[in-house]
Amino acid sequence: MSAFDATRLDTPRLRLRPLHEADAQALLEIFSDARVMRYWSAPPWAAIERAQAAIALDREAHAAGRHLRLGLERRDDGALIGTCMLFNLYRQCRRAEVGFGLHAAAWGRGYMHEALVALIDHAFGALDLNRVEADTDPRNRDAIASLERLGFVREGLLRERWVVDGEVSDSAFFGLLRAGWRRGGAPAGPAPAATP
Ligand SMILES: CC(C)(COP(=O)(O)OP(=O)(O)OC[C@H]1O[C@@H](n2cnc3c(N)ncnc32)[C@H](O)[C@@H]1OP(=O)(O)O)[C@@H](O)C(=O)NCCC(=O)NCCS
Repeated sequence: MSAFDATRLDTPRLRLRPLHEADAQALLEIFSDARVMRYWSAPPWAAIERAQAAIALDREAHAAGRHLRLGLERRDDGALIGTCMLFNLYRQCRRAEVGFGLHAAAWGRGYMHEALVALIDHAFGALDLNRVEADTDPRNRDAIASLERLGFVREGLLRERWVVDGEVSDSAFFGLLRAGWRRGGAPAGPAPAATP
């Protein structure tokens, strides 16, 4: 088993773990929803085979260290409610991109925040990365709020970078440096004044 396949990250309400074949239906439910896929880099998934292919791809990519995708399993009821991943891993530069998606019924409860705090801790800790990036549609307010809550900084706009189902869209590019990361997501600010 590869190190990525063995990754388990526990948070108060979630267990982050690699996906397996039995997750295909739950995965399809999440990523066939047009609300979840509105600003995604691909159209909504239409068939179970798409979910099965993603799970099969993970096995290969985890073994090669190309990406790390983890499912968000809710501890309460064992439901798979989303995924988060580090991809475009570039070892030499110690950087990767982050991607994430949550079942629409689970939005607005801080689940993704909880998951991304653990994933980014893992990225800057065990994986020894120095920079995590995110490419999101500038209209994707919820994703941008999630990124900014974690301390990601907006670094630029890449125009007309995506074409999905004929729709051309821009990328708002965000970055988070290890030096600016404090567990819990608050961006590192100036050092607190020393108390006498
Ligand atoms: C992006 C996405 C994951 C954000 O979902 P989310 O539930 O808003 O994400 P977070 O975990 O960051 O939740 C924060 C929200 O939960 C609320 N919340 C409730 N309980 C909370 C808790 N215990 N801790 C933290 N936040 C909590 C926050 O107030 C915040 O709501 P607000 O933005 O209205 O203030 C979701 O909209 C999604 O899956 N979108 C489609 C996929 C997508 O676009 N992915 C990004 C591609 S780059």
